[in-house]
Amino acid sequence: MRYPGLIGPMPRELLGEPLRFIAADHDRQRSLCVLLDSIADTEVVQTNAVADAVTYMGHDMQTHIIDEEEDLFPLLRRRARPNDEIDEVLGRLAADHATDARLAEVIMRGLQALQVHPKPVISASLRENLRAFAEGQRQHLALENAVILPMARLRLTAPDLASLAARMAARRGLALEQRVVHA
Ligand SMILES: [Fe+2]
Ligand SMILES: [Fe+2]
Repeated sequence: MRYPGLIGPMPRELLGEPLRFIAADHDRQRSLCVLLDSIADTEVVQTNAVADAVTYMGHDMQTHIIDEEEDLFPLLRRRARPNDEIDEVLGRLAADHATDARLAEVIMRGLQALQVHPKPVISASLRENLRAFAEGQRQHLALENAVILPMARLRLTAPDLASLAARMAARRGLALEQRVVHA
């Protein structure tokens, strides 16, 4: 799926390197945050920005969260050593996912309503929710990039990475083109 605006296309060429793919997805989520802030900050509704945000939040972002919840986090839990103290961070990130999912649902309803309204106007509460979601996402991404990805690079084995890559590719209905899997 292409996102012609601010959010780049899915980096499918990185599927053989699952941790790089996840890092690239985080960059796309940062672009989403810029997009959501810009929607919140402007008076006139930017139809293309709204469409891009709805498409991304309704699809690739959800797939990314499943990658983490079902594959990356369990692998990390299994491979972490006791003094890595990763459990607390993983607990916080999972709690973020749950909170974000509730706010994302409210935002999606608000944005979709704008898409079908002949003269869309963004409410104060939608603006507030957009900014809050973007801010929460930035903190979440910072923690994942600073702690989770470096730890995964350190601890996951080659077979772990191969299985992560295969599952992420299957989740997207794609064949894994590269046989060699890198961190
Ligand atoms: Fe993430
Ligand atoms: Fe996450």
